[in-house]
Amino acid sequence: MGTFCFCSSMTSNFNVPQVLPPSDPKLVVNGGSTLSGHVIVSGSKNSALPILAATLCCSGSSNLKNVPYLSDTRTMASILESLGAQVMSFGGDMVVNTDGIVSVEPDSSDVGKLRGGFFVIGPLLARFGEACVGLPGGCDIGARPVDLYIHGLRALGATVELRDGKVQAHVSNGKDLIGASFRLGYPSVGATETLMMAACMAEGKTVISNAAQEPEIIDLAGFLTNCGAVVEGAGTDTLYITGRRKLYGSEYSIMPDRIEVGTYMLAAAITRSCISISPVAHITLTCLADKLSGAGCKILQLSDDTLELSAVPWTIGDDLRGFSVKTNPFPGFPTDLQPLTMALLSTCKGVSVIEESVFENRMSHVTELQKFGAKIQVCGSRATVSGKGKASPLRGSQVNATDLRGGMSLVLAGLAAEGITEISGISHVDRGYESLEMKLQGLGANVIRTTTTTFPV
Ligand code: EPU
Repeated sequence: MGTFCFCSSMTSNFNVPQVLPPSDPKLVVNGGSTLSGHVIVSGSKNSALPILAATLCCSGSSNLKNVPYLSDTRTMASILESLGAQVMSFGGDMVVNTDGIVSVEPDSSDVGKLRGGFFVIGPLLARFGEACVGLPGGCDIGARPVDLYIHGLRALGATVELRDGKVQAHVSNGKDLIGASFRLGYPSVGATETLMMAACMAEGKTVISNAAQEPEIIDLAGFLTNCGAVVEGAGTDTLYITGRRKLYGSEYSIMPDRIEVGTYMLAAAITRSCISISPVAHITLTCLADKLSGAGCKILQLSDDTLELSAVPWTIGDDLRGFSVKTNPFPGFPTDLQPLTMALLSTCKGVSVIEESVFENRMSHVTELQKFGAKIQVCGSRATVSGKGKASPLRGSQVNATDLRGGMSLVLAGLAAEGITEISGISHVDRGYESLEMKLQGLGANVIRTTTTTFPV
């Protein structure tokens, strides 16, 4: 398909693109091409982060495989190093040894960069009896308080206070956390993970009800079990944990990233293409697969861990049909795929409604998608998308990513749009997608990363 051409409306005397000084990286997409071929997904970011935190529970070294190379996993490694851990990376392997921990207060500026940084409070408190952790950062998609973490840690016998912008906690009896039964007010993924890690080293039994059921919880339980922990019920709404005073580092391979799988399924759909994707645990994406099949896509399981999604014209007939979704905790429709689904729906036929029920402020991509010509109206947490269908494609635009998944929705819109799209703020997207432009290029997309402004000026 076509190659880049940036010289459509130049004002420079020399008829060459005006190049401005280097700045933050941008992605430039020359859209409208179809994709083809195969893409290999990386290890899951949202599994890797809690499992990296869980290495703090373990004596000796943990050898983690399939760790995605992302700014978030590198920040998490720095957080562990700020506590005194030794972290070595080779390709997708990360070896963490926490025998030399000298501090229970991780670097606050790093914790402030990602939500996963706060997870260390559970293992630190359980193994060392105290922790002082700054409030976490992460995507700006809602208030994202930590009250459920604090409630659970208190139930396990910790004294917890918020002082000087940090959560300070110590074991109340001066010895160990004590197993307890409690119910989470909401099945928070991060709170479930943090409390699960703490309970694995508490004295006696813990029962956590209304726990999150996400596949990443099962992955964390898998790692902890390898290290000697006793966790039952992972993947259901009730966790039964028997504490062990000592856990030992082990080797573990991080599960494939189901949100990345979903992202490439949506990339194929929005570009009306056919691609195959592996490794895929099909069960983790049933919700998305059902919606895309209902819209007219054909999804084939080519082997145990490979799927093919086809949205080419001779498969889908007239065009893809819009559909409505409401995000919910697993097994509901994943909130992380909501912005990307919105990009797709803006190209389908008919009116679709998206309701965001997990985060209160996950709609900031809407104003950017509108710059492509997408017809979206937002009322509170509901967005109504009037699909344009093939008669009226999206138009390339200059847009800005302000969060990870919202940013990726702009990349998808750029792939589908006619003409050139320039996406700034791409560091948000780098938090969660390994080798993004290389993978897209491998599928035939015209996409490059640049630090200079090359958009026609
Ligand atoms: N919540 C509270 N109090 C708490 C904890 C959570 O009110 O103490 C609320 C949150 O404000 C939110 C809801 O509960 O409205 C769900 O939050 P949850 O705790 O489940 O999410 P998280 O652990 O902060 C993880 C992922 C997110 C993903 C959500 C939901 C990681 C590092 N992050 O966040 O991933 O959207 O679960 O599935 O695992 C992403 O990858 O782009 C991303 C944001």
